[in-house]
Amino acid sequence: MGVKHQAEREYFREAVGKLDVEEMAPALRRRLSELWLRRAQNEHASVASFDRFCLGLLAVGAPPDLLERAHHAALDELLHTRLCFAVASQYAGKPLGPGPLSLHGALGGDFSLAGLALSTALEGCLGETLSAIEAERCAELAKLPALKTALEIIAKDEAEHAELAWAFLRFACEIGGETLTSQVRRRMAPALHTSAESGVKYACADLAVSGFGFLDPEEAIAVRREALAKVLIPAAKALGLA
Ligand SMILES: [Fe+2]
Ligand SMILES: [Fe+2]
Repeated sequence: MGVKHQAEREYFREAVGKLDVEEMAPALRRRLSELWLRRAQNEHASVASFDRFCLGLLAVGAPPDLLERAHHAALDELLHTRLCFAVASQYAGKPLGPGPLSLHGALGGDFSLAGLALSTALEGCLGETLSAIEAERCAELAKLPALKTALEIIAKDEAEHAELAWAFLRFACEIGGETLTSQVRRRMAPALHTSAESGVKYACADLAVSGFGFLDPEEAIAVRREALAKVLIPAAKALGLA
């Protein structure tokens, strides 16, 4: 068995064991188990996204350094999967884990340099940066150490995944020149102005669950808007993408 993340897993196992679920109202406990289960399933799907990204990097002849970081990122997503299933299990009062993941269409799509650059710009540069910032805010607000720990780990890793996406995009724009850069710009520029409201990951309108790893939707949009203005739009402009 690999040892990556072993220390985090051991530390977290102890923390999650201390989630005091017996004292909670059953309805809240049930709701949290559903929400953390959904989060765990999304993290599990992210393992496949990075595996697909690794294949894409091989297909376009990306430098080994990027490929190595992408493989590590897949393992990060596996850690997130484990953390979120552990929390969901604790709230559910029974062990929950990943089931089969449909790979239907997983190897379809565009594996060209431009295709990979476009999907990375939207899902990696934009999506992962905004996820990292939402997760960071959830960690700040989390009332319980186990939830705070899980969200801090996730936020730190998602920020690294966003950096990897930007590194790939720089590589792709260098190789693809102005033709590719302008293709990405046409897709990315409008997304920079709509992503605050669309694709929110960590929000739940049920205010009872804020502080348990979820944000009030208005707050989620506010932190995303700030990230777009202060981080993403300047980063895109620096690459000639906005
Ligand atoms: Fe993740
Ligand atoms: Fe990620």
